[in-house]
Amino acid sequence: METIASPLETQKLCASWRAAGLKIGLVPTMGYLHAGHESLIVKALAESDRVVVSIFVNPTQFGPKEDLDKYPRDFQRDQSLCRSLGVSLIFAPSPDDMYPAGFATKVAVPSMAATLCGRNRPNHFDGVCLVCSKLFNVVGPRKAYFGLKDAQQYFVLARMVRDLNLDLELVPCPTVREPDGLALSSRNAYLNEAERKAATVLSRALDRAKGAALGGQRDPKALIDLIAATVAEEPLARLEYAQVVATGDLADVSADLSTIDGEILVAAALWLGQTRLIDNFLFTPPEARR
Ligand code: PAF
Repeated sequence: METIASPLETQKLCASWRAAGLKIGLVPTMGYLHAGHESLIVKALAESDRVVVSIFVNPTQFGPKEDLDKYPRDFQRDQSLCRSLGVSLIFAPSPDDMYPAGFATKVAVPSMAATLCGRNRPNHFDGVCLVCSKLFNVVGPRKAYFGLKDAQQYFVLARMVRDLNLDLELVPCPTVREPDGLALSSRNAYLNEAERKAATVLSRALDRAKGAALGGQRDPKALIDLIAATVAEEPLARLEYAQVVATGDLADVSADLSTIDGEILVAAALWLGQTRLIDNFLFTPPEARR
């Protein structure tokens, strides 16, 4: 396995693989890899001839008051895991490699970036679109793998890929969970013992809403109220948002769900102390037109 920091060198190596007819799978990450990342890598390995894992804590997707400096990092451990899984290349650029002096370009999907998590993280998805555009151009993957815990990220990027005619497929992968339901996230490392116990309220709240939807509840407000009421039972947790949107354009779904003609995303974010956690589920009303 190689580890390369230079975008140009990485681009050359990946171009040589493509020229030899090899299919590249890309797993973009910010490092501190966990079993969720591992599941993306395993899927990429099964579907590609060469797998590239990018490890880059991307400054452009963090707000001024967010956790860029304290974001957890363990490059050695990440390298060992990637090596043991059979990854071909870790692309690990520095911020200067990715954003050299004079860098001036922006990439954005404003309508889809302004809702859900974007309401309180105004530039986050612009930063994600920018860095992923660069990663796609440097690596030239046939497929890129994204976890659905960050469902908004996947849907925003899918729209960017479609709108810009980028020649790759984005592969959405299921959320990996702890046995008690907590969605895996590098940020779970911030939780103290009491917060870690309390964190299960998020998946519990979403499970209740999903159960209600499966049981026939078609009022989006009732699903949101159920999530809010469940989170309110946990004194350590503060709900940031719970929202129901259509997956195509992330438009708010305020009418009856039975009027929806496709898949919806029910998503929530909450705070435990200084730590922000997100989770979601996808649901297609069986009666929805396809
Ligand atoms: O999901 C992440 O870890 C990041 O947002 C990504 C896609 C690697 C871009 O920095």
